[in-house]
Amino acid sequence: MQLTEIELRHFRNYEHLAVDFAPGVNVLIGENAQGKTNLLEAIHLLALTRSHRTNKDRELVQWHQEQAIVRGRVQKQTGPVPLEVQLGKGGKRVKVNHLPQSRLSTYIGNLTVVLFSPEDLALVKGAPAVRRQFMNVEFGQMSSRYLYNLSHFNDALNQRNQYLRQLRNHEAHDRVLLEVLSDQVATFGGEVAAVRARLVHQLEGWAQPIHEEISQQKEALELRYVSQLTIDAQSEASDLTEQLQAALRANVDKEIAAGTTLTGPQRDDLHFLVNGKNVQHFGSQGQQRTTALAVKLAELDLMKEQTGEAPLLLLDDVLSELDDDRQTHLLTAIQDKVQTFLTTTSLSGVARQLIKAPTIYQIENGHLQKEETA
Ligand SMILES: Nc1ncnc2c1ncn2[C@@H]1O[C@H](COP(=O)(O)OP(=O)(O)OP(=O)(O)O)[C@@H](O)[C@H]1O
Ligand SMILES: [Mg+2]
Repeated sequence: MQLTEIELRHFRNYEHLAVDFAPGVNVLIGENAQGKTNLLEAIHLLALTRSHRTNKDRELVQWHQEQAIVRGRVQKQTGPVPLEVQLGKGGKRVKVNHLPQSRLSTYIGNLTVVLFSPEDLALVKGAPAVRRQFMNVEFGQMSSRYLYNLSHFNDALNQRNQYLRQLRNHEAHDRVLLEVLSDQVATFGGEVAAVRARLVHQLEGWAQPIHEEISQQKEALELRYVSQLTIDAQSEASDLTEQLQAALRANVDKEIAAGTTLTGPQRDDLHFLVNGKNVQHFGSQGQQRTTALAVKLAELDLMKEQTGEAPLLLLDDVLSELDDDRQTHLLTAIQDKVQTFLTTTSLSGVARQLIKAPTIYQIENGHLQKEETA
C-alpha cells in the first residue's frame, strides 16, 4: 500500500501541512527539532490512532489549540481509502471513507506501518511489557479479530483484578461472580495467546533467513513465545482457555491475597535466542542490533503475507545507529518493496549511494519543501 497524501492541522509544530508522497523512499531531512519525528508520528497516528511515543493525545495537539486533525489517502490494490483522525476535547474520532467508526477494530488495519527507531533496540533489551506491546501493535494490524479479543481480554482482566482486590478487602464475598469473570478472562485470553504463538512462529520463519544473511551465516535466530501455559504454534484457543481456567481455579486464594491475576497472556513474553542463548541477557550490542533489525524487516514480510498488502516502513533516525554493513542490508532489503519514510539530519555515505531515486523533503520549523530533481 501507499500513503499518497497527508494533511495535518494543528498537529505538534505543524500549523497546516498538505503534502503528496512518492511511492519509493521519501527522505525527510532537517536539523534537530524541526518536525521530522512529528511527521512520522502523524503517520503512525493515522495507522494506529495512537502515537508511538506518548499515551497522552493532548501532547499531539499544537500548543494553544483545541483540536488536531490528521487526514490521509491510502492507495491499496482495491482502490483509495481516505482516513481521518481527530483529537480534541471530545476525545478521539476516527473515520474511514468519511464514515465515523465507533470501534478501533474496524479502523486499525486500513493503513499498516512498521516503525523502526533507535528505541526499538529496547525490543530486545527491554522489559517483557515492551515485547507484549510489540506483539499487540503488530498482530493487531494484521488481524481485527486479534484486536477484538485483546480489547475484551483487557476489559475482563481489569474487572477481575478489581474484584480480586474487593474480595481481599472483604468488600465483596461472592465467588460466583469471580468465576464468571475468570471464564471471560480465560475465553479471550486463550484466543489472544493462540494467535500470538502462531504469529510469533510465522515471524520467526521470515526473520531467520534475514538474520542468517546479516550475520553472514555465523548465527542462528529463534523466536519463542513464552507462557506459563503449555503452548506452541499449533495450540487451539479452546485448549489454552481450558488450561487458563484450570490455572485460575488452582490459584484463586493466592490471587485474592495478591489482588491480581497471576496467569495469562498479560504475563507472557517473547524471547529471542541467538545460537540458543537469550540475546536479551547474553547478546552483545551488535547481536542485539542485528536481531532487532532482522525482526523489523521480517515484520514487513509477515504483514504482507497476512494482509496481502505491504505496510509502510517508517525509519526514524536509524541510519545513524547502524554501521555500514547493517545500513546496506536495510536499504537493499527495502528497495522497490515498500514505501518508506526515512528521517535524517543529512543523507550521506552508504545511504546516499544505495537509495535509488529518493524523493527528498527539507523540513524546517514545521514546513516541508520538496527538493526538485534535476
Ligand atoms: N504540541 C506541540 N505544539 C507545538 N510544537 C510542538 C508540540 N510538541 C512538540 N513540538 C515541537 O516539535 C519539536 C520537535 O519536533 P521533532 O521531534 O519532530 O524533531 P525532529 O526534527 O525529529 O528532531 P531530532 O532530529 O532532534 O529528532 C520540538 O522542538 C517542539 O518544540
Ligand atoms: Mg526526531
